Amino acid sequence: MADTYTNPLSRRLPDGLVPENEVARTEDRWFTIMLSMLGVMMAIIVATSALHALHPPSNLETIDPTTLHLGGEFAESNLGTAAEPDGSITVRMIAEQYSFVPACVRVPVDTPVKFRITSADVIHGFLLPATNVNTMIVPGYVAEVRTTFSRTGMYEMPCDEFCSYGHHGMWARVEVLPRDQFPDLSPVERTSCEKQ
Ligand code: CUA
Repeated sequence: MADTYTNPLSRRLPDGLVPENEVARTEDRWFTIMLSMLGVMMAIIVATSALHALHPPSNLETIDPTTLHLGGEFAESNLGTAAEPDGSITVRMIAEQYSFVPACVRVPVDTPVKFRITSADVIHGFLLPATNVNTMIVPGYVAEVRTTFSRTGMYEMPCDEFCSYGHHGMWARVEVLPRDQFPDLSPVERTSCEKQ
């Protein structure tokens, strides 16, 4: 029995069943199809990143998460909305278990807004639905995202990175106001949204 057994996988195919050049042609054809699918997918990624400003955050800036409250850019008095000399807006926030500080910011519409956010403890997420804003907030790093809001209204902002027991309740809000209303706001009003 043992000497008559042949492994079916190593058995020679009968000559002439599938000509070798036919096999080569089929493989070539599939190779071309695969390559063009890859090309189409790459083109979609490049086009969406160029046209919709969708790309991984490129800012690499480190910060000591244990001394955020002691001074520097993320001291309490610097958090919230700041108007820059060029007319753009910078928003500074801290993410911590389980809230964003401040929990709400108000910004003007049709104005470049730069979010600078860092974490005081673990990894959180920062996502503004229907915008290009979506980043992780990693302790030790400053996440920076730029956007321009084209519609006024309230944007709900969930933490979208699981950060332990209170994750589901970790929300902040961005209220986008008409341009002419924003300059009249006091610093306190800029971080107090209307209750909904
Ligand atoms: Cu913070 Cu999830």
